[in-house]
Amino acid sequence: MLNGPNLNLLGTREPETYGTDTLDDIVADLRTQAADRGAEIRDVQSNSEGTLVDTLHDARSWAAGVVFNPGAYTHTSIALRDAIAAVELPVIETHLSNVHAREEFRHHSYLSAMCLGVVCGFGRDSYRLALDALLTHLG
Ligand code: DQA
Repeated sequence: MLNGPNLNLLGTREPETYGTDTLDDIVADLRTQAADRGAEIRDVQSNSEGTLVDTLHDARSWAAGVVFNPGAYTHTSIALRDAIAAVELPVIETHLSNVHAREEFRHHSYLSAMCLGVVCGFGRDSYRLALDALLTHLG
């Protein structure tokens, strides 16, 4: 589970858009969900684009797939697009909010075309749905 910029502030960050659950709450849920399916979650959050690229590279050696909320880098980052293409891991682009119902600059993702799928708009359930889809894909 990989989370990009400003997601460390979940809980207090624009709660009307992102809800009041903290990232720790969401990670705890995912750990339980994964354990129930015989999987293990490792989670990394970074505000730095380079660290997210490095984490995707590292994931090649231990991860089977990635639930990734790239935050605002979704709409700006060719480096992350290239990293997703390079690592050849199934990645699910995940957003708490429905980015298509928000400002126009959020409607475009540089990453979606490189991802197995996209889940957005379901708040903390977006992560649950993304993990469910990823684990089903992995069998
Ligand atoms: C987000 C949506 C992005 O547009 C925004 O920049 C975020 C959070 C979401 O989870 O809804 O930081 O990825």
